[in-house]
Amino acid sequence: MASAVNTTPLHLLFSLLVLQFASGFIVNDDKYKRQVSLELNPGLNASVRPPPGVGLLHVRALGANDTLHFLLCSLDAPTLMLVHTNSSSSSVKVDWRRFLSGNTSGSLRVEPQSSVQYSSALVFTRVWEYDDANDTADPQTLPPSSFLPPYQLQNFTWEDLGQTVNLTTDTARLCGQDGAASFRNGSFCLQISAFGSGGRDPGWPRLLHNANSSQLRVWLDGVTARSNFSRFFLELETVGRSDLLSRVDVLRSIDDEYTPSIFEVSQWVASPPNATSPVLGYTQWKPVAYRSATPNLEQATPCRHSEPLPLARLPPSGLVRAYFGDGYRASGLNVTFGIAGDPMYSASKYLSWTVLVGLGSPPVDSFSPVVIAIMAVGLGTPMILILVGGVCVCVRRKRVEPLAYEPIN
Ligand SMILES: *[C@@H]1O[C@H](CO)[C@@H](O)[C@H](O)[C@H]1NC(C)=O
Ligand SMILES: *[C@@H]1O[C@H](CO)[C@@H](O)[C@H](O)[C@H]1NC(C)=O
Ligand SMILES: *[C@@H]1O[C@H](CO)[C@@H](O)[C@H](O)[C@H]1NC(C)=O
Ligand SMILES: *[C@@H]1O[C@H](CO)[C@@H](O)[C@H](O)[C@H]1NC(C)=O
Ligand SMILES: *[C@@H]1O[C@H](CO)[C@@H](O)[C@H](O)[C@H]1NC(C)=O
Ligand SMILES: *[C@@H]1O[C@H](CO)[C@@H](O)[C@H](O)[C@H]1NC(C)=O
Ligand SMILES: *[C@@H]1O[C@H](CO)[C@@H](O)[C@H](O)[C@H]1NC(C)=O
Ligand SMILES: *[C@@H]1O[C@H](CO)[C@@H](O)[C@H](O)[C@H]1NC(C)=O
Ligand SMILES: *[C@@H]1O[C@H](CO)[C@@H](O)[C@H](O)[C@H]1NC(C)=O
Ligand SMILES: *[C@@H]1O[C@H](CO)[C@@H](O)[C@H](O)[C@H]1NC(C)=O
Ligand SMILES: *[C@@H]1O[C@H](CO)[C@@H](O)[C@H](O)[C@H]1NC(C)=O
Ligand SMILES: *[C@@H]1O[C@H](CO)[C@@H](O)[C@H](O)[C@H]1NC(C)=O
Repeated sequence: MASAVNTTPLHLLFSLLVLQFASGFIVNDDKYKRQVSLELNPGLNASVRPPPGVGLLHVRALGANDTLHFLLCSLDAPTLMLVHTNSSSSSVKVDWRRFLSGNTSGSLRVEPQSSVQYSSALVFTRVWEYDDANDTADPQTLPPSSFLPPYQLQNFTWEDLGQTVNLTTDTARLCGQDGAASFRNGSFCLQISAFGSGGRDPGWPRLLHNANSSQLRVWLDGVTARSNFSRFFLELETVGRSDLLSRVDVLRSIDDEYTPSIFEVSQWVASPPNATSPVLGYTQWKPVAYRSATPNLEQATPCRHSEPLPLARLPPSGLVRAYFGDGYRASGLNVTFGIAGDPMYSASKYLSWTVLVGLGSPPVDSFSPVVIAIMAVGLGTPMILILVGGVCVCVRRKRVEPLAYEPIN
């Protein structure tokens, strides 16, 4: 009797611990919310008319005491910029006349400038094509003669961004074409999704997002391959403060519930050189692309990235020229799609890839309920058996002990 009473608190404690452990994974305790609004060409009035295809989308994500500004622009290479301020009334000011002239430097500001805490940009610079006759899917090992002239995204003709802004879903789409004959039926598109709270995109790769992030899905559709064994890769650059380090971390997981067959997530982070300091901003992706507009397992193809390289000059982006000056620098990397044995681009003429851009530390994928259930059964059962075994031993000892001391009583 006494021993049963004694073990109850222990049992309770154990159950509580298990519950807390499990709920830490199941319950998404990301409660941070922002009020999201989309605006096209902030501050533009009738006195200035931008040339066709030039658009600037401003996403304002208003927090309790701060504001995150995301800007997507098609002036030269397509760019997504992020500016974080510690004011809930900061605003984007564009001097449109200068912004659209060749001399754009300093023509875009976030005011008050003293409230700016962090800014960075992600620029899509070039779409590369190479002849993979030996099916290695590894452009880094190929001779220069295998590479076809890259498509320069700064020279693309972009469609009207304003037509695609959807205020219900907080999305917008930027699609562009190159003048080359091989691109006549093709398009390169970027779709931005802004978020006011945590969640997970319904479509594969089902990236986890939070209120401090925006997602970009990019796709390359209908391009005519210029060789018989063409594969493509994408060149990206980030711009950040020059005192920050740029590196790609690859995290592994045992769970592929949300992105079948993919057990990794890559994050290109900007962090202070001090290793103990937290990450300030990131571009995160799952190393998978899809060869179909409706992603499925058969059409999934792995991606690889090259190591980020510091670059001597800032990327050819109107937004970057207009906002960033001294004290900022760029680093770049290539993301290749497909591995040896995968079908070439012309088999489906489609590739899509998704990244998340955000402030602070990248969201960490939790275990899915299925995996938690398996872990609970796998780990819980032996523990309960040990506990029950221990209790039985205790009960038997206690039963024996009083007998031994009875004569003294
Ligand atoms: C248009 O904006 C400029 C400043 O960007 C301003 O000087 C001008 O008065 C505005 N024109 C109209 C019609 O509002
Ligand atoms: C916002 O600022 C006020 C006063 O500065 C402070 O009391 C409050 O805790 C802050 N809220 C958040 C969410 O940081
Ligand atoms: C660019 O604009 C700035 C500020 O208006 C000016 O000081 C500079 O001289 C201009 N540069 C050129 C090349 O026009
Ligand atoms: C915002 O940050 C600046 C420094 O970056 C600081 O001087 C200012 O006091 C901060 N404002 C608020 C409201 O926290
Ligand atoms: C393809 O493989 C052959 C035989 O290994 C080699 O001679 C040739 O240089 C390779 N071609 C390319 C483009 O790597
Ligand atoms: C792309 O644009 C750059 C500068 O804007 C120019 O030098 C280059 O010749 C262009 N390339 C093509 C293929 O049009
Ligand atoms: C916005 O997206 C929703 C959901 O996809 C769609 O029903 C709606 O028609 C779209 N609105 C516009 C203006 O495109
Ligand atoms: C573009 O599509 C049309 C119609 O499908 C086709 O006739 C033409 O050959 C295609 N052009 C290229 C460059 O693939
Ligand atoms: C988002 O950023 C704000 C301000 O830096 C921070 O307080 C909050 O914890 C962040 N939320 C998440 C989910 O990272
Ligand atoms: C590409 O394939 C076509 C048809 O199979 C063939 O005629 C042509 O010679 C090939 N081109 C190259 C560069 O291998
Ligand atoms: C790292 O940062 C902390 C706090 O910002 C500071 O105390 C420490 O001296 C730094 N260490 C180095 C090696 O810079
Ligand atoms: C991407 O690959 C191309 C072709 O190998 C190379 O010229 C370029 O420098 C690479 N870009 C980066 C940022 O590594």
